[in-house]
Amino acid sequence: MDFHIMTLFPEMVMTPLSESIIGRAADKGLLSVEAVNIRDFAFNKHNKVDDYTYGGGAGMLMQAEPVYLCYEDIMRRIADRKGNKEVPGRVRVIHLTPQGRLFDQQMAAELAKEEDLIILCGHYEGIDERVIEEIVTDNVSVGDYVLTGGEIPAMIIVDAVSRLCPGVLHNDLSPESESFSDGLLEYPQYSRPEIWHDKKVPEILLSGDHAKVDKWRHEQALIRTRERRPDLYEKYIGKNTT
Ligand code: 6GU
Repeated sequence: MDFHIMTLFPEMVMTPLSESIIGRAADKGLLSVEAVNIRDFAFNKHNKVDDYTYGGGAGMLMQAEPVYLCYEDIMRRIADRKGNKEVPGRVRVIHLTPQGRLFDQQMAAELAKEEDLIILCGHYEGIDERVIEEIVTDNVSVGDYVLTGGEIPAMIIVDAVSRLCPGVLHNDLSPESESFSDGLLEYPQYSRPEIWHDKKVPEILLSGDHAKVDKWRHEQALIRTRERRPDLYEKYIGKNTT
């Protein structure tokens, strides 16, 4: 998977994404992340990429042309890398906006099948609608709250999608056993010591009886989901009783 992040703040995304699991996966060549600075495509001598909004109102808007030139540059490089054999018309362009479809595990799994993902981060009051119409394939939001820009949402998308790419996690079975992929939250887990602050690890986990442990974990996942996410619980029960 090759991620191409269009942003006015490349360092904001590159530093966090070069650490830990994503950083190691990139070092191994399992994925790549590039942040392309939209400001490099400013078409005036002041490197200005924002302007006032027509119709008035507070704040500045990112202008269409620098965003478009940045997009064209990325598409050209993708085509070059593919030896210009394929028309790269099918590359998905994710625009991060509170007006988008809510990002979830299912969307992460869908995006993980792509070869390239272009991620467009808005900042200020947003982006001129005309360039969004022209290049964006998916408008995506990470939750019902407002952030200052799309950079943190971009990191969320890259993180959630990367860990589903082959080889990124050591145990390729583990993404499926975790929260959400089966529609339930994860069961509680324990490590050493056996007693900590007078709290003992549940007896059944020390029994060595794998069938009993699996059953207990499933029950715990159900209890936890019902308590913490009744919406997910109802969905799960609906799906698993018919
Ligand atoms: Cl993708 N962008 C911004 N600016 N705010 C958000 C968001 C995205 N998702 C939720 N809030």
